[in-house]
Amino acid sequence: MGGYSRNHHANSLRAKSSRLQIFALFALALFSLTALLLFKVDQTRTVAGHNLEPTPWHLFPPKQFNDGSRYTRTSKIIECSYLTCRRHSSSIIQKPRDSSQQSPNSLPACPSFFRWIHQDLEPWKKSRISVSTLMEARQFAAFRVTIVGGRLYADFYYACVQSRAMFTIWGLLQLLRRYPGLVPDVDLMFDCMDRPVLNRTVYSGTNRPPPPLFRYCTTKGHFDIPFPDWSFWGWPEVNIENWDDEFRSIKQGSQATPWTKKWPRAYWKGNPDVDSPVREELMRCNHSRFWGAQIMRQNWLEEARGGFEQSKLSNQCKHRYKIYAEGFAWSVSLKYILSCGSLTLIIAPQYEDFFSRGLAPRENYWPIYPTTDLCRSIKFAVDWGNRNPSEAGTIGRGGQDFMEELPMDRVYDYMFHLINEYSKLQDFKPFPPSSAQEVCMESLLCYADPKQREFLEKSTASPSSSYPCTLPPADRDIISSWIQKRQKIISDLQKQEKMRAM
Ligand SMILES: *[C@@H]1O[C@H](CO)[C@@H](O)[C@H](O)[C@H]1NC(C)=O
Ligand SMILES: *[C@@H]1O[C@H](CO)[C@@H](O)[C@H](O)[C@H]1NC(C)=O
Repeated sequence: MGGYSRNHHANSLRAKSSRLQIFALFALALFSLTALLLFKVDQTRTVAGHNLEPTPWHLFPPKQFNDGSRYTRTSKIIECSYLTCRRHSSSIIQKPRDSSQQSPNSLPACPSFFRWIHQDLEPWKKSRISVSTLMEARQFAAFRVTIVGGRLYADFYYACVQSRAMFTIWGLLQLLRRYPGLVPDVDLMFDCMDRPVLNRTVYSGTNRPPPPLFRYCTTKGHFDIPFPDWSFWGWPEVNIENWDDEFRSIKQGSQATPWTKKWPRAYWKGNPDVDSPVREELMRCNHSRFWGAQIMRQNWLEEARGGFEQSKLSNQCKHRYKIYAEGFAWSVSLKYILSCGSLTLIIAPQYEDFFSRGLAPRENYWPIYPTTDLCRSIKFAVDWGNRNPSEAGTIGRGGQDFMEELPMDRVYDYMFHLINEYSKLQDFKPFPPSSAQEVCMESLLCYADPKQREFLEKSTASPSSSYPCTLPPADRDIISSWIQKRQKIISDLQKQEKMRAM
């Protein structure tokens, strides 16, 4: 009995210790799993810019996160990046309602400048886009977006300045919301910083196609593909609302002062300290009697302190002429300036965004291409307008009408067609890379601060009841005739200006 008991004791001891071992092993496994998970969470790159360095090709101060302790940040990342999209998993895919009745002929035609989409994608028409061509663009990209089955996956490489990444990805999510079931599977690289990088001369020299890279602007000398910038959904840092709301309030503000009551001078307000030679030169023209121009410096810090009362765009339509001058690259201000209905004086732009190529000189704006001196050319335009007030007013309205014909609905159509045409060039089936994470509206809003959230929510799109407008077919001749016509008007004006100076 005693023997049995001792044996039993030993057995139970052994059993106990092996249970202990299993428990210890289990605890260790759990601990390392948690550690691994926490490590992974600590490394998770987010749409708000967590764990990302600024782009090396365009430096800016690294993002500061004042969301408290490491614990709160970790739980936020777990909540937003790992739990949110799953909760809202099954999105209903429903094509536009009246699809059966719609024949392509009954759909409105897109604005004619949409034709540029074909021109922008021309470099890949023959070669098409392979995975390796796409991966060549990675070195220039801040993030990669993969859309598969109507869901969006983002792989972040670098942080974008302010909330550009957040608002750009939000725009893509709204496109998916507006046209459920219509946006094709696509894989694209995006750089959110200002200047284009794919020099045509450099990349034409090889027999390989250039890397396909989306950004907010391009030039005649670059292969970068222009895409609507973040400000169409809002720019909370400078208090600019989404485009539809902003246009409405600017137009209203512009009607507060009829043309005859507008001050017959040219007005510019902005930030001259952005490494822009033309803005620096513009400072010299600040003399309303000599040059017919009033040039004002925008101090964003002061404006922010004053609740942006002084920078309200709708209050800046009191002059008959408004000047557009590029900044470090293109400037988001173009659409707001044109919306005023004043005569817009556009100073020799080098950069093009997706819509500015559609503007026709003397129909939507007045081109300023200085022959000798910028201030003189501005004075020439102002004098012309004051001698021809009705024609000047008509061109001013022409600019406003152009912007009115580009509401968010049309911006989504542009995005749709650009992405759709691009997707036809892919010679592979898109699949999200393992390092990418799904981003949905809820997960993006989860990272937004209260002000960002307010701006984002106001720009939510609703599902469209009709298909996108009809994209005009590719036609190089039409595009070159536009360019020639523009050149002719510009050189005619230059001649007139020289004549007057004599
Ligand atoms: C492209 O590169 C060439 C040769 O390096 C240079 O001369 C040209 O100015 C560049 N073009 C642009 C648009 O930057
Ligand atoms: C331009 O002149 C006005 C009036 O003289 C002045 O208030 C303003 O500060 C000047 N702008 C700049 C950029 O110096």
